[in-house]
Amino acid sequence: MSKNILVTGGAGYIGSHTVLQLLLGGYKAVVVDNLDNSSAVAIKRVKELAGEYARNLVFHRMDLRDRPALEEIFDSNKFDAVIHFAGLKAVGESVQKPLMYYNNNLIGTITLLEVMAARGCKNLVFSSSATVYGWPKVVPCTEESPINAANPYGRTKLFIEEICRDVHRSDSEWKIILLRYFNPVGAHPSGHIGEDPRGIPNNLMPFIQQVAVGRQHALTVYGSDYSTKDGTGVRDYIHIIDLADGHVAALKKLADPSIGCEVYNLGTGRGTSVLEMVAAFEKASGKKIPLVMAGRRPGDAEVVYAATEKAERELNWKAKYTIEEMCRDQWNWASKNPYGYEGCAHQNNNNSAPH
Ligand code: NAD
Ligand code: WQD
Repeated sequence: MSKNILVTGGAGYIGSHTVLQLLLGGYKAVVVDNLDNSSAVAIKRVKELAGEYARNLVFHRMDLRDRPALEEIFDSNKFDAVIHFAGLKAVGESVQKPLMYYNNNLIGTITLLEVMAARGCKNLVFSSSATVYGWPKVVPCTEESPINAANPYGRTKLFIEEICRDVHRSDSEWKIILLRYFNPVGAHPSGHIGEDPRGIPNNLMPFIQQVAVGRQHALTVYGSDYSTKDGTGVRDYIHIIDLADGHVAALKKLADPSIGCEVYNLGTGRGTSVLEMVAAFEKASGKKIPLVMAGRRPGDAEVVYAATEKAERELNWKAKYTIEEMCRDQWNWASKNPYGYEGCAHQNNNNSAPH
């Protein structure tokens, strides 16, 4: 019988791609999402891409902190595991509105864990982040590297990791996998689903994409005086489909009786600079990305990339896609959906040319 997975935040960027890979892998998925940072169109597109498997997807628009609604979903389903993506993720916003971040990310997670415990579902995969490595003194970052956080968003990830370790210590029936994602980019190769940030993007690839489609004038490069190959920051970019597949691998690992509360990096193990990423995107899209060289962004690390051996060995998972493929798929999504999921509505309401 198909395994039934509750996916919180499943309408978002990583969630939507993971739900599709789950459906195609023969799983059933129940998505709960309040759509605060996503669109119902993403769910519709996932269903279209899933074809005959679309019947295995159920969507509930609700806030994770709505305990009675969550209990009702657990009462009418038997879940084999939960993948918990739901959370707010903008670093700068978390500095401005720390209580909003602590409320949403911590209360959401605690409510989820309490309802799971009460209903006897104790298998969890949680979205942690490479942000917990801060500015690493040594790269690649291994799962044993020291962790710390430079902002409230990062602290919510650190706190939730600790909460999960405590919950497992208190009750060994829990099986928990904490996945530390590096920098997810790209889109499903069909170009039908992808990342659709609200407002001005904070992250590199969505910003480059918006320059390419004419929504922004130029990319500001934050820092060109780092001790890196070309002076710009280096990160471990991972294709969203590789990342989604990492979740399917983690779900399979939960069946291993030896698993307790375990951390895995999901990255490629390769570092790419901002300028290398721009060059790869220009090649994939045929568009020139004008640059404005600027000072360092506060809180940014110089070089961050993953040690991938643990995930390769224990999850039997390895990232496959190249930087060229990440840029190709990012551009395919961007050129088909220059204004994201709500593009048509936006363009109809806005007759001025993008600038
Ligand atoms: P996203 O914003 O696209 O998706 C998160 C989803 O959760 C959204 O659809 C949002 O509407 C929903 N949500 C938020 N709070 C909710 C609540 N209280 N109740 C119900 N739904 C809620 O972000 P993403 O990039 O897909 O990230 C998914 C997870 O992965 C997040 O926890 C994020 O912190 C983590 N993560 C993301 C990155 C990244 O670079 N994208 C890197 C590391 C970790
Ligand atoms: C990548 C590189 C920037 C934008 C952030 C979060 C982290 C995680 C992933 C969730 C850096 C440079 C960027 C721009 C630029 N999210 N850059 N101009 O900083 O590695 O991580 O997203 O967990 O928590 O902090 O990713 O894409 O913002 O930046 O030059 O307009 O691109 O300085 O070197 P980052 P990013």
